Amino acid sequence: MADTFDLVVIGGGPGGYVAAIKAAQLGLNVACVDKRETLGGTCLNVGCMPSKALLQSSHHFEAASRDFAAHGVKTGKVTLDLDAMMARKTAVVDGLTKGIAYLFKKNKVEHVAGTGTITAIGEVTVKQGRKKQVLKVRNILIATGSDVAPLPGVAIDEEKIVSSTGALSLSKVPKHLVVVGAGVIGLELGSVWRRLGAQVTVVEFLDTVLPGMDIDVRKQMKRTLTKQGMAIKLSSKVTGAKASKTGVGLTVEPVAGGKTETIKADVVLVAIGRVPYTDGLGLDKVGVETDERGFVKVDGDFRTNVAGIYAIGDVIGGAMLAHKAEDEGVAVAEILAGQKGHVDYAAIPGVVYTFPEVAAVGRTEDSLAKEGVAVKVGKFPFTANSRALANGEAEGFAKVIADAASDRLLGVHIVGPGAGDLIQEAITVMEFGGSAEDMARTCHPHPGLGEAVKEAAMAAWDKAIHV
Ligand code: FAD
Ligand code: NAI
Repeated sequence: MADTFDLVVIGGGPGGYVAAIKAAQLGLNVACVDKRETLGGTCLNVGCMPSKALLQSSHHFEAASRDFAAHGVKTGKVTLDLDAMMARKTAVVDGLTKGIAYLFKKNKVEHVAGTGTITAIGEVTVKQGRKKQVLKVRNILIATGSDVAPLPGVAIDEEKIVSSTGALSLSKVPKHLVVVGAGVIGLELGSVWRRLGAQVTVVEFLDTVLPGMDIDVRKQMKRTLTKQGMAIKLSSKVTGAKASKTGVGLTVEPVAGGKTETIKADVVLVAIGRVPYTDGLGLDKVGVETDERGFVKVDGDFRTNVAGIYAIGDVIGGAMLAHKAEDEGVAVAEILAGQKGHVDYAAIPGVVYTFPEVAAVGRTEDSLAKEGVAVKVGKFPFTANSRALANGEAEGFAKVIADAASDRLLGVHIVGPGAGDLIQEAITVMEFGGSAEDMARTCHPHPGLGEAVKEAAMAAWDKAIHV
């Protein structure tokens, strides 16, 4: 191991591992410290990837149980092997985390296992059990991510009252799962367990599911999820939870005040957001500033207030998304290598992997209206898209928002099959400062789901053909 590193990254999640690899590719001598046994952070170990594995498996289970017959495919009685489903999820995660270890070796990034503490400027001490290593370093990158936001009065035990981590590993399908929070985790993991047979009730503080998303998306998803069998209680607050041998009694009351009710659940999933994670990092010791919510404060070049200490990813706030953390990882590595690194925050997409998927980039119609920006809006339903009809998956729409005067693309919102991939063309057009007309005049393969996005762009710019 080197005597002095150019860069020590603390945290091996999508922000940290990408920064480490990119910095090594740019010629820096890099170590990455992570206290988990495996690399990949929250995303690969207990976030994006295990949840997507279970979403895919549970989607197959539901499709086989419910949808195959319409295609003339007879299956007989479909039964669930939850252990096999979980084993597949574990294998997917295993393969992916080992993949990061391989990439570290290939790019000559030193992986140091253990908890990293900044013990002085230019010094990171790593502890693992009784083993202690002191790394001397020119620059330190904090990429320690986030943790589950706690809900007062509802203590997580990861058995009956679980966070997303527990909800990814339940040993049996709960009869009644109550999800607190109708955000991304609540709706994705709520969908997994509903598809596998649980009765699912979602309790949300605000008066909408997926707050922050476009108004049409929120309305559509409330309708869709309700139709799928999810019970959604909006404007409701959880005031306490009592766990017993048989389950959990959750006390819930209307936000506006009124009668308290007790909902009985076998399992409660707390998914009310995530908070920055900086425990044991030693920020106080070296004087790195955090804001009132605990996020590490950085400038436009990811520099903290202490020279030689940088931060990226969930721990600095903004969208808590893996691809945002990764882009920051690349940008900070470029900056450290003397190049110009930059992230275009206006074009960071968000995807919710329910079925149908939800995908968004740019501004929402409601937020633009609040600012008085004049816009043109085009919408196209998947029920008018030939591929979606042929597939038998035609729920949802594509919506394109463009500036009324210049036609510049301001936002695209899709609820529909494959929305998470369909959004990519809108992101690219936005990155190039393109217009609704650019999208509308771009040839799209037929029959393709992307034609719905093109038609929405046509509707925003001029007129759609197929509605
Ligand atoms: P993290 O991935 O949290 O990594 C931080 C790492 O730092 C961790 O491994 C931690 O062990 C380590 N660490 C912390 N402190 C120390 C220390 N002192 N010493 C050593 N190591 C330390 N995002 C998406 O874009 N798409 C998705 O589909 C998606 N699905 C998600 C599903 C779930 C259930 C959850 C919980 C999150 C999901 N996310 C998703 C969010 C995504 O996981 C995060 O945005 C992303 O992981 C943030 O990356 P990061 O590198 O900033 O931090
Ligand atoms: P979230 O911010 O998406 O949703 C939290 C929800 O809980 C909100 O609707 C909020 O109004 C509600 N809420 C807050 N306090 C409440 C209370 N006391 N009672 C009832 N409801 C309450 O956070 P979530 O779902 O926990 O996800 C955390 C992060 O992980 C998100 O920032 C998200 O970006 C990321 N993530 C991303 C995924 C993706 O990209 N597909 C998948 C899963 C997570």
